[in-house]
Amino acid sequence: MRLRRIVAEGFRNLGPLDLTIPARFIVLHGPNAQGKTNSLEAVHLIATLKPLRGRRTRELIAWGGQAARVSAWIEHEGIERQYRVELTREGRTAKLDGKRVSDLQEYFSGVRAIAFTPEDGRIVSGEPSRRRNWLDRATFTASPAHLDRVRTYRQCLAQKAAALRSGSVDTALLDVLDDQLSALGAELVTRRVWMLSELEPHMLSLHSDIAGGEGVLSLSYSTRARGETVEERRRSLRERLREVRPRELERRTTLAGPQIDNVRISLDDRPARDFASRGQIRSLVLALKLAEMVAARARGEVPLFLIDDASSELDAARTARLVGLLSDLGAQVFATTTDPGPLTAALPREDTLLVSLDGGVLSPGGTPS
Ligand SMILES: Nc1ncnc2c1ncn2[C@@H]1O[C@H](COP(=O)(O)OP(=O)(O)OP(=O)(O)O)[C@@H](O)[C@H]1O
Ligand SMILES: [Mg+2]
Repeated sequence: MRLRRIVAEGFRNLGPLDLTIPARFIVLHGPNAQGKTNSLEAVHLIATLKPLRGRRTRELIAWGGQAARVSAWIEHEGIERQYRVELTREGRTAKLDGKRVSDLQEYFSGVRAIAFTPEDGRIVSGEPSRRRNWLDRATFTASPAHLDRVRTYRQCLAQKAAALRSGSVDTALLDVLDDQLSALGAELVTRRVWMLSELEPHMLSLHSDIAGGEGVLSLSYSTRARGETVEERRRSLRERLREVRPRELERRTTLAGPQIDNVRISLDDRPARDFASRGQIRSLVLALKLAEMVAARARGEVPLFLIDDASSELDAARTARLVGLLSDLGAQVFATTTDPGPLTAALPREDTLLVSLDGGVLSPGGTPS
């Protein structure tokens, strides 16, 4: 997967942008607040249809503007296609080769990205929702159909939450919703468990490679939807929902289901969330992200890899190992940094494009010295 050209207009603080990319490694550098992360975000939007930071795509529109447009020409399996995202205050439109996309799976079959940002430390140190979201996002990157699964489950859950909140005790309605939630939830849990088991061996070996000596990583998915198969999990979840029903009615809120599951990440059998140091957290997150890349390659597709603020996240040794690994994977890499020296020192000159950022203007130029 190679991004060959990107064009953006009305996007955050970026001036009209038209960048041709003849390289595998792209280093966006410049002082603070010039638009490095914003540039990375334009690539992220094309590849995921989501902002890199925050939740609302309309925040990506330049202040005072009404619309933003990003187009990218991406080559995948020998075919180049044009991906385009148009944002207005009302919403987002995705286009593929000029046609409005109705099937997002087709869109995502030719573009994927995995991002590694300073905020990702919260996947390890934050609330369980951070880890669930990470796992759902990883599952989506592996299999875009997961998006619908998560969305349908959430809609159904919201319906039940509204019913409980209203205080009306329509048991028949709650029964129907619980039937649906246990079927959808069992499917959701099964996909998450499948993804985690696919990532686990890669994570363990990457982690010992990145952070040998910082402790032994272990992972588990913790859920009340017990069993091995979707059907066993559905039954277990249905039973659990029956158990909690009186308390749900009393408290007027939902109390069970995959929306409260957790991904346990431990170092030497202690929860990393409570005990890991900053450096240990960074190594763990890097292992998680790279495991996604390795698993993707095993499936035959290598997503774009986006690194925000490489200088603050990686020391020289980690940088060298990361570059080596991403090179072996054949990934195209976009990295931002205030100090391009250490990163470019590790990159192959002939395959690196340096782009400097100044007040939202990108200036490509030069290969690393
Ligand atoms: N929607 C927007 N419209 C216009 N400007 C914006 C918008 N959103 C953010 N900005 C501004 O864009 C500027 C550049 O932000 P960006 O996060 O890309 O900086 P950066 O180069 O990554 O800096 P750092 O090195 O500190 O991470 C900031 O000053 C920010 O206030
Ligand atoms: Mg930044």
